[in-house]
Amino acid sequence: MLVTSKEILSKASDDNYAVGAFNINNMECLQAIISAAEEKDAPVIIQTTEGAIKYAGVEYLSAMVKIAAQNSKAPIALHLDHGTTYEIIVKCIASGWTSVMIDASKYNLEKNIQITKEIVKIAHSCGVSVEAELGKLPGIEDSINVSEEDALHTDPKEAELFVNETNIDSLAISIGTAHGLYKGIPKLDFERLSEINNLITIPLVLHGASGVSNSDLKEAIKRGINKINIDTDLRIAFAEGCKEIFKNDPSEYDPRKICGNARAMVQKVVEEKIFIFFNNKIK
Ligand code: G3H
Ligand code: ZN
Repeated sequence: MLVTSKEILSKASDDNYAVGAFNINNMECLQAIISAAEEKDAPVIIQTTEGAIKYAGVEYLSAMVKIAAQNSKAPIALHLDHGTTYEIIVKCIASGWTSVMIDASKYNLEKNIQITKEIVKIAHSCGVSVEAELGKLPGIEDSINVSEEDALHTDPKEAELFVNETNIDSLAISIGTAHGLYKGIPKLDFERLSEINNLITIPLVLHGASGVSNSDLKEAIKRGINKINIDTDLRIAFAEGCKEIFKNDPSEYDPRKICGNARAMVQKVVEEKIFIFFNNKIK
């Protein structure tokens, strides 16, 4: 069933677990994530970047997710990841997304608050949840590109003010993770996470979680993270699945064999993540 991310994340916050938010660009990745959620009996957030929407089209993505949700017992939210414009956010809300992220983190605090507030007003009037970001993660996530020098960890006091002023439903924070492939080992600022969590009651979101160790992810959940965004790990799994087929038979030309194997590899990774985020926490 299709639900809002607020509904999914408030349960996660009450019971101290995290929900996986997995990016999709095509049907196979969507199917892989839904099958994994069902296998693990877990809620899941399907997210699309602006780039995914450009690639697959808003109608295709919304129709696919609606069908998947109708046929599934798992609570599923359809979320816009790193929405940067009013136009794309309104288009997604009108097309059935149940959750949107406004990423105005490149602006100063005052402008980020002002833009986020406007989106909250529109989204909430349509029953759609809103995630916003404070601080800046380094790395590349489709249209978002932040250099190491421009990266900025979230200030706890500013985060408290930001949440009070904007009335958002969840907050993405920057505590040492990065988008895309890591060059070294990520070092998460857990003290900062706890400080933010002590000041804020809404669910906290960890972006750039691909490549972060399971023990760090568990610690982050323990300290208040309720939504964990994974994209790169799924892209890698999909590519590995395709490569494996060609390695065994370079002349293979059936997309069902190539993408079918990629789908199975993605499902395996999603199941592993869901186990760490969710099943592991259920007593
Ligand atoms: O918004 C999406 C995520 O932050 C994904 O980051 O590609 O590093 O997993 P990742
Ligand atoms: Zn992100």
